Amino acid sequence: MIPPADDIDRIMAVMGQAFPAEYGEAWNRRQVSDALLLGNCRYGLISPDGAEDCETSSETAGFFMSRAVLDEEELLLFAIAPQYRRRGLGHQLLARFISTARSGGMSRVFLEMRRDNPAGFLYAAHGFREIGLRPAYYRTPGGARIDAISQELTFDD
Ligand SMILES: CC(C)(COP(=O)(O)OP(=O)(O)OC[C@H]1O[C@@H](n2cnc3c(N)ncnc32)[C@H](O)[C@@H]1OP(=O)(O)O)[C@@H](O)C(=O)NCCC(=O)NCCS
Repeated sequence: MIPPADDIDRIMAVMGQAFPAEYGEAWNRRQVSDALLLGNCRYGLISPDGAEDCETSSETAGFFMSRAVLDEEELLLFAIAPQYRRRGLGHQLLARFISTARSGGMSRVFLEMRRDNPAGFLYAAHGFREIGLRPAYYRTPGGARIDAISQELTFDD
């Protein structure tokens, strides 16, 4: 999926605000554009009013990026900018990711997150379940080690 440069700008605007610097989770522009050059990666945007199309909005509230391999899709990045949080946009965007993965023929979606990330409540609300723990998997820029939790959501039909 090759996105227009404007959409990479939109992703990077959210990226710059959404991920706490202490965890070093944000990707740089090169990482985002290189990933999206791969045919199996896709992204989605959400505007502050919940629309998919961000072109008519001056700001983008959030985005996701994912990568599919065969019939499994990994949610690589998922973020809502701080000023738009706790008003349901994360729920809407995650529901969209799940329904497009399912209608696109995926049998399973999965992700990895840092332990204790409140995003876990959101994933649980959409049916994700914990399937594994990697002790001390992430290393923060400050050198701390944090466990990773693997989660999945399977589609039965
Ligand atoms: C996780 C994130 C996407 C949620 O976005 P959001 O727009 O605030 O989500 P919503 O308003 O739809 O809320 C979804 C649910 O998530 C949970 N949640 C979100 N933030 C929370 C927090 N700080 N503390 C506790 N629960 C939280 C709640 O269950 C919430 O539902 P509720 O408001 O009905 O109680 C956002 O906080 C974010 O971008 N965080 C930084 C990036 C990140 O960590 N991404 C996930 C990587 S794995």
